[in-house]
Amino acid sequence: MSSRPLANSELGWLAYDPAPESASLARLAPSYGLFINGTFTDPGAHEQVPTLNPATEATLATVAHAVDEDVDRAVRAARHAYDTVWSVTSGAERAKYLFRIARLIQERSRELAVVETLDNGKPIRESRDVDIPLAAAHFFYYAGWADKLDHAGYGANPRPLGVAGQIIPWNFPLLMAAWKLAPALAAGNTCVLKPAETTPLSALILAEILQQAELPPGVVNIVTGDGATGAALVEHPGVDKIAFTGSTEVGRAIQARLAGRGTHLTLELGGKGANIVFDDAPIDEMIEGIIDGIFFNQGHVCCAGSRLLVQETVADEVLRRLERRVEQLRVGDPLDKNTDVGAINSRAQLTRIEELVAAGESEGATRYSSSCALPEQGYWFAPTVFTDVSQTHRIAREEIFGPVLSVLTFRTPEEAVSKANNTTYGLACGVWSEKGSRTLWVAERLRAGVIWANTYNRFDPTSPFGGVRESGFGREGGRQGLAAYLDV
Ligand code: NAI
Ligand code: MG
Repeated sequence: MSSRPLANSELGWLAYDPAPESASLARLAPSYGLFINGTFTDPGAHEQVPTLNPATEATLATVAHAVDEDVDRAVRAARHAYDTVWSVTSGAERAKYLFRIARLIQERSRELAVVETLDNGKPIRESRDVDIPLAAAHFFYYAGWADKLDHAGYGANPRPLGVAGQIIPWNFPLLMAAWKLAPALAAGNTCVLKPAETTPLSALILAEILQQAELPPGVVNIVTGDGATGAALVEHPGVDKIAFTGSTEVGRAIQARLAGRGTHLTLELGGKGANIVFDDAPIDEMIEGIIDGIFFNQGHVCCAGSRLLVQETVADEVLRRLERRVEQLRVGDPLDKNTDVGAINSRAQLTRIEELVAAGESEGATRYSSSCALPEQGYWFAPTVFTDVSQTHRIAREEIFGPVLSVLTFRTPEEAVSKANNTTYGLACGVWSEKGSRTLWVAERLRAGVIWANTYNRFDPTSPFGGVRESGFGREGGRQGLAAYLDV
């Protein structure tokens, strides 16, 4: 690529002063118990595990590690609540609770945004403007469905499944909790939710919100812990449905585990999304779309546009502008409102990113990384773009789940489609073109659950989201998201 573009500090006009949000808005307890049957268990009764701020490596709080007996108690509480309360509560009544939860998320949105950013490392701009509002929107949306299930297209009086075990990842902690809980509750199920081990805090604040909303005890139970806790939930015979979002590897293990057991299952797994850029696309918007597609949430996004497929005729110009834009990204304090790229969520994830980036270099791709300064404490990775990538490179095939873009080129729409589909995944793709007919032609041929046209990473509770092939099955969001929690 060309010589290094000017950095922010050299450009002057972009050098804002720091503008951090106050960490004290978080009001965290030093330690947390489990949320079972409407109350928090005594933190002292469990092994306590620290959760860190990945931007500083400081401990934010400690949380309980739920063992098999705890999971059993949570499932029993959920079953009891299902049998005695929730399955005989009318849809209109269930809706009232969901609306209340949505409003309370809005009321506590600043606190939730700060907690999410502290625990996850994502920029406050994203937690404030995306994660928390979308979490509230999800509860509002499914509240609206609770008394209209007869009209959801699944026949008259569709029945809930019973107790749902829900296992979520660390990249959108509260939002994934909302994606799981809201449709399940609207459909009349009770839940046991297992947050990810590195980001349990916003789910525990949500537990407080459920208490504030006076949700009947046991309707939602939250058990913190690691993969062993998740596995205990999968193993539990009292669970009627497992909903999992996370790695393809664990998803596969869960599917094998549940084979022949009759437990309902939906899986939302990894991806290697292609963002396809044609030479007639409006270039400014397209550059922003590429940036957002890969650097949003540090690239910790299952549907990230991690493979850029650019038409050869515009490749030079796109790459030149992309590099200049990458150089302008602000990397640093996630609590700073001016930050674009925050901290990598964990040491383990940073190691995975570093390993794949090293593979990209050793396999012969050309690496460009932003010259931005990285903080000394915490887990950081500079925004990175690989060119000269071939389809066989690991960085073109494997999910990096970090701020690393692999660029490939193509000449014809046919070639773009064939390269985009050359993956074991099938979650999301983007198509950028002025021509609607071309966009539709390409979209029809892409094997992916979600296809964005002239935009990327756009989420809305009314729109179903999910994958095909190794990206999983089942849909979340929209009317379709109800089917995952109804006996259809
Ligand atoms: P993971 O799949 O191990 O973790 C996701 C959730 O599953 C966590 O709550 C974890 O505690 C739980 N879990 C782990 N093992 C389990 C088991 N045997 N049974 C039941 N639950 C279990 O993902 P991890 O290790 O955090 O990340 C590894 C890679 O997976 C990432 O680098 C990324 O490529 C991918 N990933 C994809 C996500 C997505 O949204 N598609 C989310 C997180 C990770
Ligand atoms: Mg954390």
